[in-house]
Amino acid sequence: MTQDEKNLDLELLKAATDARENAYAPYSKFKVGSAIRLHDGRIFSGANMENCVLPLTVCAERNALAAAIAAGAKRGDIAEAFIVIDSPVEASPCGACRQVMAEFMEFDAPITVYNLENQEYYISNLETLLPKAFTPESLEIDENQ
Ligand code: THU
Repeated sequence: MTQDEKNLDLELLKAATDARENAYAPYSKFKVGSAIRLHDGRIFSGANMENCVLPLTVCAERNALAAAIAAGAKRGDIAEAFIVIDSPVEASPCGACRQVMAEFMEFDAPITVYNLENQEYYISNLETLLPKAFTPESLEIDENQ
């Protein structure tokens, strides 16, 4: 989806931008904020949290998802996800975050990446970002567990 096809969710932009301010990214200096809207309207946010043991870093998207899950969100409750960066180049959710989003989000749910550097954004979804995904259905797991 292009910029013209869906209005930018300004509430999610603010929530993700505010969360990004709290990112802990002393190693990469690449701060990321994320916000998730549930179908019931509630918004949860997260920021990246790095660690001196570098592989222990957790991305903003997964921290936002964890906040939603901790508040009771279930698979299918998430309406959309929003990611804020501030970068001279375009970026996209990492592979790990795509897989974790696929656990909880519908594949047609909007995923917006907004760049503070130039106010440009694009709207995608998991159909595009994670084709042929391995999902809970691949394991035939009961969703209610
Ligand atoms: N990062 C995110 O928070 N989300 C992504 O989708 C890509 C990368 C973070 C992880 C690390 O703290 C920094 O950005 C540089 O990789």
